[in-house]
Amino acid sequence: GTGKFFVGGNWKCNGTKDSISKLVTELNSAKLEDDVDIVVAPPFVYIDQVKSSLTDRIEISAQNAWVGKGGAFTGEISVEQLKDIGCKWVIHGHSERRHVIGEDSQFIGKKSAYALTQGLKVIACIGEKLEEREAGKTFDVCYEQLKAFADNVPSWDDVVIAYEPVWAIGTGKVASPQQAQEVHVAVREWLSKNVSAEVASQTRIIYGGSVNGGNSAELAKQEDIDGFLVGGASLKGPEFASICNSVT
Ligand code: G3H
Repeated sequence: GTGKFFVGGNWKCNGTKDSISKLVTELNSAKLEDDVDIVVAPPFVYIDQVKSSLTDRIEISAQNAWVGKGGAFTGEISVEQLKDIGCKWVIHGHSERRHVIGEDSQFIGKKSAYALTQGLKVIACIGEKLEEREAGKTFDVCYEQLKAFADNVPSWDDVVIAYEPVWAIGTGKVASPQQAQEVHVAVREWLSKNVSAEVASQTRIIYGGSVNGGNSAELAKQEDIDGFLVGGASLKGPEFASICNSVT
């Protein structure tokens, strides 16, 4: 793998004050390997609660942010506000924002650029839908999504790329280690050709989509899998800790 192993827990639109308090307690008492960066992304409204109760060993990410400076944008949350409450990261380009909310690649690229210029790190998500995979378009889809990031971001230093095939998200149908590895290699080659050899070799590429405590170790053995973005299994403290500890 490349760089330090990275595991993100994306809690999505789940949790209550009570369930999050329990999850934080579990994470605080978990034994975590040193050699892994760990980030969790609570819903906006619970970030402050998590920030004030979770161990500093784990950094906090938002699940989204506005594309520019805050102001008259009803219902949005700005990068400046996220920094103010102690967020270090933001997830952009998640499939649920692309395909359920309707964000396009250019908008996602612009959001990422703004976050980076303001000092938030970005988990940049890409991935194909089932029909795109079946039509042989997996690489083309990933390249188009990557290009929109590349066209906008000022630097890749604070970017982690998450490859999340849409058909694997929340379905229990995890990509095989070979399927994931194949796309991760293609992403690295694209970066090498279109950005630089240095960015290709230094940018972490993590896998997401039905990762759990039972499949993370096999996936983590793949040369180009540098960590995971975990949804459902990140809501269970002990299981999330075991995924973090699958660092090889
Ligand atoms: O951001 C996380 C991914 O969407 C994966 O979700 O682990 O529930 O499949 P999942």
